[in-house]
Amino acid sequence: MKTINISKAKPGMVLGREVVNRDGRRLFDAGIVLSEKMIRTLKMWGILEVTIPTDTIPEDLPPPNAPPGRTRLDNGKKKAVLAHHFRHNDLENSVIKDIYALSFERIETCPEVLSFLQEPSKKGPGKSDVHDPYPVNGIHSLLADEIKLPALPTIFSQINAAIKNPSCSGKDIAEIVSKDTSLSATILKIVNSAYYGFDEPVESLAYAAMVLGSQQVCSLALGITVINYFKGLPGNRINMQSFWRHSVACGITAQILASHVEKVNKERVFIGGLLHDIGQLVFLCYYPGTAGIAFGQAEKLGLFPHQVEPRYFGMTHAVFGSLMADKWNFSAHISAQIRHHHDDFKEKPPREIAIVYVSNWLVNAVGIGSSSRYNLPRLNMNAWQALGITHRVLEPVIRQLDRQLVEAIKFFYE
Ligand SMILES: [Fe+2]
Ligand SMILES: [Fe+2]
Repeated sequence: MKTINISKAKPGMVLGREVVNRDGRRLFDAGIVLSEKMIRTLKMWGILEVTIPTDTIPEDLPPPNAPPGRTRLDNGKKKAVLAHHFRHNDLENSVIKDIYALSFERIETCPEVLSFLQEPSKKGPGKSDVHDPYPVNGIHSLLADEIKLPALPTIFSQINAAIKNPSCSGKDIAEIVSKDTSLSATILKIVNSAYYGFDEPVESLAYAAMVLGSQQVCSLALGITVINYFKGLPGNRINMQSFWRHSVACGITAQILASHVEKVNKERVFIGGLLHDIGQLVFLCYYPGTAGIAFGQAEKLGLFPHQVEPRYFGMTHAVFGSLMADKWNFSAHISAQIRHHHDDFKEKPPREIAIVYVSNWLVNAVGIGSSSRYNLPRLNMNAWQALGITHRVLEPVIRQLDRQLVEAIKFFYE
């Protein structure tokens, strides 16, 4: 028997041992011949390894994820960009080492990643401009609804109430969601996509709730509703597609990481990850001038946007986002995940907060669609340690993210 990484599993291999999930639930029996769909399902469930009888492993397997037509980039340039990108982090640390290696490889296979990473600046940090900050008086009135944010559809509060209620059945969820035909159609499209890879078509919401779990259907519905709502916001200072790519990647990473962490709610961290930068979106859409000045100042001073935002907006986008989450009646857990996603934790934070913090750091580290040019902060080790996982999990997590993001971005944003 040989235990192999799930990324090396191929259709036709036979399972030497049964596969169980973290809760001990059996997913597949020993002796089953793996199909493409089964492998996808295992990855979706966050299974990292399978055990295969040695004699069923074909020899000379092609390297996993071998990219077609690999583009050679100058190693010196890659090293210079990454050394700058990781400059706040300790490259001797095993977590950072793994992510650095992964970023190095991704630049090789996805050269567009380079465009998301900040190029080394010719100049050092500049001095603050002499002008006074531009306090935004309207930010509190925005929360108080004096400046109207368009109302979220009624269905949002119904789904939100359902997701908080663990006894809400799949039938109840199906009934709520089916009131919105376009939302129902989108969810069914997602459930039937390669993202989930079910063998049989899923034709009703009630069945979707049964196979996915009602909480998962709720979180999909909430995510789609919020993203659709924000598509209607004004704003031209922001690349919306890039913003949502980063946000969806953070939500998916949080969900994948959660499958390795004990006693956390996968659906909650998915929503927390998806919405962690929602405050920044409002800053950019409603106050593009001020946000532009604040971002420009941050870049000039070699600071992170959240370090200068209080001067311009009275609070960080993380705090503002959590106030919005409170206003929309999200659970206190989700609000806290949003509020603390840039914190410099002095001790281990609660696990769900740590998951969203680490997910945001990871997707920024590997250069996935940040909304602006981005400086990677130092990874807070208290947050990392709060997860209680080994750094060896990170490579399969990022590979799984890469596979899922292509599909997910289609139905969440495009
Ligand atoms: Fe942020
Ligand atoms: Fe972020």
